[in-house]
Amino acid sequence: MSNPPVFETLASLRAAVRGWRAAGETIALVPTMGALHAGHVSLARLAQQRARRVIVSIFVNPTQFAPTEDFSKYPRTFAADCAKLAEAGVDAVYAPTPTVMYPESFATTVALTGPATAGLEDRFRPTHFAGVATVVSKLHIQALPDIAIYGEKDFQQLAVITRMNADLDLPVTVLGGATVREADGLAMSSRNVYLAPAERKVAPVLHVTMQDCARRIRRGEAPNTVLARGREAITAAGFALDYLELRDAASLGAPDVASGKPLRLLVAARIGATRLIDNIAV
Ligand code: PAJ
Repeated sequence: MSNPPVFETLASLRAAVRGWRAAGETIALVPTMGALHAGHVSLARLAQQRARRVIVSIFVNPTQFAPTEDFSKYPRTFAADCAKLAEAGVDAVYAPTPTVMYPESFATTVALTGPATAGLEDRFRPTHFAGVATVVSKLHIQALPDIAIYGEKDFQQLAVITRMNADLDLPVTVLGGATVREADGLAMSSRNVYLAPAERKVAPVLHVTMQDCARRIRRGEAPNTVLARGREAITAAGFALDYLELRDAASLGAPDVASGKPLRLLVAARIGATRLIDNIAV
């Protein structure tokens, strides 16, 4: 399988998109930061079911990392990524350089409220979603796809992007793809490579605990009691817990359990130097 074409400039991306548009073809965009795993590939496959042409972007976006975070050591595996995308049969890789995305005089940021200030990731990564929303709005405008696909793995991110895309009237349909997991339940993540063997063994506790909490809440146990026990289980396994919360799945606000509206459990916890996030439907 030959590698898909790699576009590093906006002009080359737009020329390809123009050609596909002229032929009446639909286009899907799957934004990533590379270090691709089966979760990313599942989004590319979902994109292929929804559109004739699929572009996967690979850009480790500096503006969504805080100075204390792992931008410089974030895994970069471009050749292996391209091989996976060739095997999946995607039509193009968009890999802009940092200067293409952020020219020297770049001075604009998307400011957010709503799901971006729900008190989950934003509490621990206060500048993160401004960086995500800025790069994602640029990607949507640069590629002008019919659809753009994001993973439920980053559930608050998906909510932020859905809101931002609608609020800015971007002519793109945002879709979510289900979380792909390892056999033991650990959500696939580019950051899982940071886990030492002993940490990797403990990591599925997050998913197991959320499943147990969801089951209890569905059975009618009081969410506050269930969450308190869940927090204890995660901490007892050796994690430093950032949050384990039950939220309204649509707004990410406080849940109205009696209403029967969809609920979501969301977790973030650190083990050693690695921070993991996950979530499930209740
Ligand atoms: P990245 O972490 O590379 O993830 C790219 C996309 O893959 C995101 O939409 C993410 O939710 C999805 N994803 C990650 N792990 C997944 C899994 N186990 N199953 C299914 N989907 C999964 O998220 C980002 O990059 C960036 O913030 C980005 C949106 C590209 C903006 O820079």
